[in-house]
Amino acid sequence: MNQENHIILLVGSGAREHAIAKSIARSTRPHKLVTFGSSLNPGIAALSNQYTTGNITDSAAVTAYASEQAVTIAVVGPEAPLETGVSDKLWEMGMPVVGPKKQLAMLETSKQFTRNLMADYDVPGCPSFKHFSHLFGVPEFLGTLEDDYVVKADGLMGGKGVKVSGDHLHSHQEAIEYCKKLCDANSTFVIEEKCIGEEFSMFSFCDGTTLKHMPPIQDHKRAYEGDEGPNTGGMGSYSDADHSLPFLQQEDIEEAQAINQLVVEALKKKTGEGYKGILYGGYMATSDSVKVIEFNARFGDPEVMNLLSLLETDIMDIFEAIGNGSLDGLEVFFKKQASVCKYTVPEGYPDSPDKGFPVDINGVDKPDQLFLGAVDQKGEYLVATGSRTAAVVGVREPVAEAEQLVGQIKGNLFHRTDIGTSQLIQRRVTHMEALRG
Ligand code: AMP
Ligand code: GLY
Repeated sequence: MNQENHIILLVGSGAREHAIAKSIARSTRPHKLVTFGSSLNPGIAALSNQYTTGNITDSAAVTAYASEQAVTIAVVGPEAPLETGVSDKLWEMGMPVVGPKKQLAMLETSKQFTRNLMADYDVPGCPSFKHFSHLFGVPEFLGTLEDDYVVKADGLMGGKGVKVSGDHLHSHQEAIEYCKKLCDANSTFVIEEKCIGEEFSMFSFCDGTTLKHMPPIQDHKRAYEGDEGPNTGGMGSYSDADHSLPFLQQEDIEEAQAINQLVVEALKKKTGEGYKGILYGGYMATSDSVKVIEFNARFGDPEVMNLLSLLETDIMDIFEAIGNGSLDGLEVFFKKQASVCKYTVPEGYPDSPDKGFPVDINGVDKPDQLFLGAVDQKGEYLVATGSRTAAVVGVREPVAEAEQLVGQIKGNLFHRTDIGTSQLIQRRVTHMEALRG
């Protein structure tokens, strides 16, 4: 393999990008890291040779920085710059990019695009769905779905545009009222069948043709213990040593991997372009098959912190292979260890989070396993900015270690103590056993 010494550009400055930066720092290949973030993340700054802040969705600003820094490969972390075509502009400069072009990132940015793509190219796992731009036909379609329906606003809504029956919507009338609100706001929407089961994610590195899958992993979206409370960006995640999850069967994993592969093939047929980056398949294991909840065009946050903590292959080799389409010649290995990631978040998160208070990380005795999220450096202090503050990963004794480390982060914060515990995992196993009969 070509052992070029890269100048690598990282776009983004959240905990996901901190995980990516740490993984790059572990590379044995000589390299320089330059970062273009929306804020100054001190964790990433400490690992970067150069760091600038600006509008990460502004392609002109990002390309100007890339050119000034003589970047040789770029990695785009979050979805917002993918949506505005930052990858397209970097490719136009002749620079390989990990992160799909705008048209391909529609897999995440448009629910309608994705459901239509799956239907048009016979990608399995698509729940029954219908797209709407007005209320005509809504009551009739809800009628066919009976009690199990989901309404999804089109576009990037940070998970907030999705309302699920039994959870957020309690009657067809309430669903129609929500649809009316979306129509009034000029948003199109998808109504689809509610899938019943257990969620898991399947991530794949993709070079346009070849996919290398990562171990399946489960996020915890609800804010409070026992999966109660409002949806969040994700309070924590775990993966298992055998690269399965206790409530999954081998077929579930193989189906999810096959669907990731098929959707990349469908994208190529539709657009003529190869998807280069990280593909994030959000799945529901149901009683009889695996269903697609959503696709995202990037690493998951918090899942990236587990996955990159377990990655054994040099990430620079993977990024380079994604860029030049040689992933089929690279073996990608993950440690056969379990992992637990836990976020600590401001009191009041997500609805009315406290912010502006100091966060003390000096007591964290394994800083390698700490990832900074929504914090700002104010002089010598870290200050919480309101969203998910910081995350830790435990790998040796995953639950105990994560719990200990997260407790060493001081501030007006809370975390979920139940993530990764055998009690919570057993609940999921029992649920799947009941569904499978
Ligand atoms: P999304 O933004 O599509 O990930 O949706 C947010 C959350 O809504 C998911 O993590 C699921 O918990 C839930 N959800 C979305 N679509 C469905 C579906 N078809 N069936 C059941 N739950 C769903
Ligand atoms: N784990 C949730 C997300 O990254 O969207």
